[in-house]
Amino acid sequence: ISEITRVKNLNRLQIGKHEVEAWYFSPYPQEYAHLPLLYICEFCLSYFASPMMISRHRMRCTLLHPPGNEIYRHEDISFFEIDGKRQLQWCRNLSLISKCFLDHKTLYYDVTPFMYYIMVQRDDTGCHIIGYFSKEKESAEGYNVACILTLPQHQRHGYGKLLIEFSYELSKVEGKLGSPEKPLSDLGLLGYRAYWAEIIVEYLIGVGADREVSIDEIAHKTAITHADVQNTCVNLQLIKHFKGQNLICLTNAVLERHEKSKKKKRRRIEPSCLKWKPPV
Ligand code: COA
Ligand code: NA
Repeated sequence: ISEITRVKNLNRLQIGKHEVEAWYFSPYPQEYAHLPLLYICEFCLSYFASPMMISRHRMRCTLLHPPGNEIYRHEDISFFEIDGKRQLQWCRNLSLISKCFLDHKTLYYDVTPFMYYIMVQRDDTGCHIIGYFSKEKESAEGYNVACILTLPQHQRHGYGKLLIEFSYELSKVEGKLGSPEKPLSDLGLLGYRAYWAEIIVEYLIGVGADREVSIDEIAHKTAITHADVQNTCVNLQLIKHFKGQNLICLTNAVLERHEKSKKKKRRRIEPSCLKWKPPV
């Protein structure tokens, strides 16, 4: 083992048919921490030390989807809701994987205060995890997302925005405005900024030029908090001071950028496919 790998103590992970490099330290048990490659069952998320051990496990493992209720299904994308309290081991395994790609957050050994929303792609071999977010059952700060992750092999394909969009659809059903837990990672901030800008500009285009729109109206239509709407509008330079008032006005520059990014068609959440009531 080279000095660097020993110091960094990072694993590579094989998840289903993908192999990825960990970005950060994750506290797998001692016996696994020093292995160059960890073999992870893509369905139960258990980890194994060798190809032989995982293939023995795969013959016994009967799970074909995350162990919770399917609350959304549209095209080949589904979401499963999992209660951390009911699926302790599965959620701890998910936390261990997530920590490989998260630097700043404390790993939640205690998964019981969280619900987990797992996004999968369905095919005839099962429901394959693409990403997820966790959400506190009770958030005093009004956070609608605690941790959010797109597995590295699936990043930069619009799935992060899809996860974020889903989190706001849940907030709409709750009749609440939501914001992600702070601090966000650099990638988290980039993802959220891109999402907020897209959704707010899309809303303003929908309203048209003949009517004034307030921060409050945008917040209530999108479930994005006033502060996040305000900051996004400031960043996009959409706020104009006119006769002592602040007006939100689309600019050509912003419109052009929006049209351009619209060309990279991304998947969208279809709200009518969400079958969900807030957990009690
Ligand atoms: N460099 C620059 N911009 C990036 C980026 C990168 N590596 N990754 C995402 N973005 C921005 C882009 O604006 C992108 O939109 P675009 O591709 O249309 O330009 C936007 O974020 C959303 O990208 P998307 O493909 O929808 O997101 P993703 O599936 O890659 O997931 C995260 C985004 C944050 C979930 C993902 O990077 C991740 O899991 N990171 C590790 C965990 C983490 O930091 N989570 C957040 C803190 S809890
Ligand atoms: Na978190």
